[in-house]
Amino acid sequence: MSKILVAYFSASGVTKAAAEKIAKEMDADLFEIRPLVPYSEEDLDWRNKKSRSTIEMRDRKSRPELAENIDITPYDQICIGFPIWWGVAPHIIYTFLESHNFRGKEIFPFATSGGSGFGLTGIDIKTCAPQAVVHPGKIVR
Ligand SMILES: Cc1cc2nc3c(=O)[nH]c(=O)nc-3n(C[C@H](O)[C@H](O)[C@H](O)COP(=O)(O)O)c2cc1C
Repeated sequence: MSKILVAYFSASGVTKAAAEKIAKEMDADLFEIRPLVPYSEEDLDWRNKKSRSTIEMRDRKSRPELAENIDITPYDQICIGFPIWWGVAPHIIYTFLESHNFRGKEIFPFATSGGSGFGLTGIDIKTCAPQAVVHPGKIVR
């Protein structure tokens, strides 16, 4: 039987709740993608042009550092969950994707949002994990 991993980033808990539910339903392992420096409430203020999240999301090359990582070798199928930020995945997701070799693995992206759809997020995921088979992303509610 193939092993499934649900890896997620969540800043305010919504995606975390979804990830926990998905992992339980799929009998999958769960891994929280955490930034080395946690996001404060001010960091998450998208109305502020100078907030950390705004600065990171405006810089396509920003890659927030991970607090810890996981060996994905045992997993064939990896669900990756995140909140939609500025229409795409928070850049820490790119940090995570680029830190692994996804050869022979399938990625199933899912996200929560305040209303936005998945947009072009799948293209960015494929760019950061070129060896993976990336399935169409889903917004979960
Ligand atoms: C910095 C930032 C940017 C966001 N950008 C969007 C967006 O472009 N579209 C949208 O629908 N929601 C946006 N949201 C709302 C989140 O996607 C939504 O609240 C999500 O469910 C939060 O998940 P979390 O609790 O796991 O962090 C944004 C939130 C933050 C903090």
